Amino acid sequence: MDITKKGYYFLGLIIGLFIWVIILYFLGPPGDDVFDIFIRLGVLIGYTAMFVAALIIPFMKEVTKMFGTSFLKIHHLLSVIGIILITAHPIAMAINWETLSVFLPEFSDWFTFWQNSGRLAFYIIYFAAIIGLVRKYMTPKIWRFLHGFIYIALLFGYFHGLFSGTDFQENFGVMITFTAMLVLIFEVLIYRRYQKYKLKQKT
Ligand code: HEM
Repeated sequence: MDITKKGYYFLGLIIGLFIWVIILYFLGPPGDDVFDIFIRLGVLIGYTAMFVAALIIPFMKEVTKMFGTSFLKIHHLLSVIGIILITAHPIAMAINWETLSVFLPEFSDWFTFWQNSGRLAFYIIYFAAIIGLVRKYMTPKIWRFLHGFIYIALLFGYFHGLFSGTDFQENFGVMITFTAMLVLIFEVLIYRRYQKYKLKQKT
């Protein structure tokens, strides 16, 4: 891997963001036990990894140049870290509360739905990841559309955290940081659509 100077700056930014999230967690309400590390800190880091993985999508060429390696390797590494930590989040809960019901989506009313939308996000993340793995069996248009469900998962994960998370609710820094992440992700998504629209107009 031949990392350029720009690549090191970018890597520094990413590492800095992870360190910032970890510091915020330790500045917030203390955890009850080891499960709390997976339930709260784990998911905050996992979400951050998914956020960076989604954020770099429109900058494929730049990322490949900066790191001297395929863009996909970086995207996959961050996605795998995100999926592992996000999976550990409900598993730790299921073990701690001794129930598998935590995996059942809730639709009883609007607020309960959003409070528990992480449950749906969990399945959507796996769906989008599997689509990414079997993409060669689909047309680019279809697999990109289905893989894009990850944005819905990140939106659900955000509102679920906002309405049920200890850190989201009791640590202003966490709330602001993750709100900024969500806004940035959708800004980049719109920017990407705009890039494609411009390209289409040229041809
Ligand atoms: C079956 C799946 C899931 C269950 C049962 C679940 C349940 C929970 C619960 C009970 C909390 C509150 C924890 C606390 O503050 O003590 C929480 C927080 C959170 N969850 Fe989930 N969740 C699930 C999936 C997800 C997914 C897939 C994501 C991300 C895409 C996610 C993101 C978050 C975030 C960001 C928080 C806030 C953490 C904090 O404020 O400390 N969750 N979840």
